[in-house]
Amino acid sequence: MIDHTPVQSRIRIWDLPTRLFHIAFACCVAGAIVSAKVGGAWMDWHVRLGIAALALLTFRIIWGFIGPRYARFSQFVCGPVSVWNYILTMSKPAKKIPGHNPLGALSVLAMLAVIGVQAVSGLFANDDILTQGPFAQFVSDATSSFMTGVHQLNETFVFIVIALHLLAILVYTLKGQKLIGPMMHGDIAADRLPASTAPARDDLRIRMCALALITALTFVAWWLIQLAANAGASFN
Ligand code: HEM
Ligand code: HEM
Repeated sequence: MIDHTPVQSRIRIWDLPTRLFHIAFACCVAGAIVSAKVGGAWMDWHVRLGIAALALLTFRIIWGFIGPRYARFSQFVCGPVSVWNYILTMSKPAKKIPGHNPLGALSVLAMLAVIGVQAVSGLFANDDILTQGPFAQFVSDATSSFMTGVHQLNETFVFIVIALHLLAILVYTLKGQKLIGPMMHGDIAADRLPASTAPARDDLRIRMCALALITALTFVAWWLIQLAANAGASFN
């Protein structure tokens, strides 16, 4: 449904770099899973997309320290007591919270940690046939096997955190709380937020800062892909 709320009564919550990160990250992770499951020649794409996901994840971690207010970890990371108190009040009418709520924050951290373990272990993994991560050649067979085991075991947790993420979004949507729209266009209607809510900075300067950071990380990712391509027998 089209939201006809006038533009001036909206407040920017998610800056453009955070929104682009989300789309790109979801695509790379989904692509990495599909290509790994298809296997064969698609493992080349698995390595490329996995490394791209790792670069994006690194971007998001750095952005969590230097990015605009609602993207910052200091703004949304909270202790177990806050999460528990939030869960206890969930049956009451939704509280107005700009940015991630305590439960959402927990799920963001879980996703970044679990997918982070997956991507880092992948750098050392090998399939004993044609594909290996860029660092597998520099470690012993035992270490590479161990990391491959971590990569295989952690796969289940990757599926669990993604499933919980999508389920939570669905539940909130059914409860009438719009989360998807703001993650796409960045804004929330002012009357759905506390009166004093300040907008997130999303000007040209902050976007250029994000562009510089992601460009630097793209070079590192490119180097890692070349390293994996030279080591793996299948790469084309
Ligand atoms: C978003 C990050 C990643 C996800 C979600 C992911 C997921 C997966 C999954 C699900 C499999 C197992 C497929 C199966 O069931 O047979 C797999 C295997 C594999 N992945 Fe990843 N992966 C990621 C990142 C990476 C990275 C960055 C690399 C290396 C650069 C990598 C290298 C490998 C290799 C070598 C295998 C084969 C291991 C084996 O034979 O068990 N992965 N990955
Ligand atoms: C593999 C798939 C996905 C992954 C790995 C993923 C990951 C993430 C991450 C890391 C965040 C935190 C954003 C940040 O603070 O930077 C997030 C938030 C969010 N994601 Fe996803 N996402 C996926 C798919 C989706 C899909 C398909 C949707 C919509 C249908 C969606 C909707 C959202 C929304 C609405 C938020 C904001 C939640 C809030 O307001 O607290 N995600 N996602």
